[in-house]
Amino acid sequence: MTANPTPADKFTFGLWTVGWQAADPFGDATRPALDPVETVHRLAELGAYGVTFHDDDLIPFGSGDADRAKHVERFKAALKETGLVVPMATTNLFKHPVFKDGAFTANDREVRRYALRKVMRNLDLAAELGAHTYVFWGGREGSESDAAKDVRAALDRYREGLDLLAEYVTDRGYGIKFALEPKPNEPRGDILLPTIGHALAFINSLEHADMVGLNPEVGHEQMAGLNFVHGIAQALWHGKLFHIDLNGQRGAKFDQDLVFGHGDLLNAFFLVDLLENGGYEGPRHFDYKPSRTEDITGVWQSAAANMRTYLLLKERAAAFRADPEVQDALAVAGVAELATPTLNAGESYTDLLADRSAFEDFDPEVAGARGKGFVQLTQLAVEHLLGSR
Ligand code: GCO
Ligand code: MN
Ligand code: MN
Repeated sequence: MTANPTPADKFTFGLWTVGWQAADPFGDATRPALDPVETVHRLAELGAYGVTFHDDDLIPFGSGDADRAKHVERFKAALKETGLVVPMATTNLFKHPVFKDGAFTANDREVRRYALRKVMRNLDLAAELGAHTYVFWGGREGSESDAAKDVRAALDRYREGLDLLAEYVTDRGYGIKFALEPKPNEPRGDILLPTIGHALAFINSLEHADMVGLNPEVGHEQMAGLNFVHGIAQALWHGKLFHIDLNGQRGAKFDQDLVFGHGDLLNAFFLVDLLENGGYEGPRHFDYKPSRTEDITGVWQSAAANMRTYLLLKERAAAFRADPEVQDALAVAGVAELATPTLNAGESYTDLLADRSAFEDFDPEVAGARGKGFVQLTQLAVEHLLGSR
């Protein structure tokens, strides 16, 4: 029997996820606005650990100082009542028309300066609420026209902005790390830092690279046709998986933001297996959108579905690992052998050249003819996933 979610599972949700009113480019909102205070209470009842927000999710854009303080106080009171925490916060640098050509990389310098100030203001609030991670999703950093954006200059400005904000956070002693969230497109025709790989390379060029990592989202890599499990494994390998956005996506198309597992379920199974066994200890953050067809009952059902699916996959992955037949199949597939270094301890290329078994006496035909059993191993995973073992 799958356990119900508890805060120990570290499930978190953005205010903007359950709070999405489902307006899309073709149709109006189908649901009323949700009060962030109600969201906090409902998420706590469902067993979540925390809640995350964009500045404008909590404090409507353009609010005066007095209103701002009121929104923050109400939210804080709800957190206190429920015990929910705020592990991550982020900035809305995409909704207002001022950001139509980007924020840190807008051609217009005044817009870039305004964007930095907007982030600094919300960093103060994030620190006050105890967040450790600050996400940067550059949805408007990009272009529709290769003539209109000097990409190399844009990357200079992106770096300039992040370097400045890292310095700010360090000087203030906020203890916040940055997590960049790649996405290939939408809302811009092409977004800068489109994939995990692009973002990792960019991070290496930053002044405070050590405090900048990634917040990859399932659907965003899959929109680019990429294997999310591979991307996460590489991010872990670089020590850069600072946060994660879990959701569902079916193939290379617009960003679906489906419930976790409602897209590529087999990839989600291996993702949970990796997260649970790969050393990731951060929040399991759901960044999904309850489908436009759902009423408010459906919103809370979909929130619960994300957590339940994660826990089911966790249970199924543990059963897969514990199955002796799986262990035999893993041995046949030689999966553990890859952890053995290719050279012996202290072996040089001269030693390798002298090793006749490595080349002269090695028979590539025999090695090439050997079956790997990978399909049988995968079938065992599918059977565990289907609950038939
Ligand atoms: C998307 C993005 C956004 C960001 C979020 C943080 O679906 O395109 O995931 O939801 O994660 O807005 O800024
Ligand atoms: Mn998305
Ligand atoms: Mn996201």
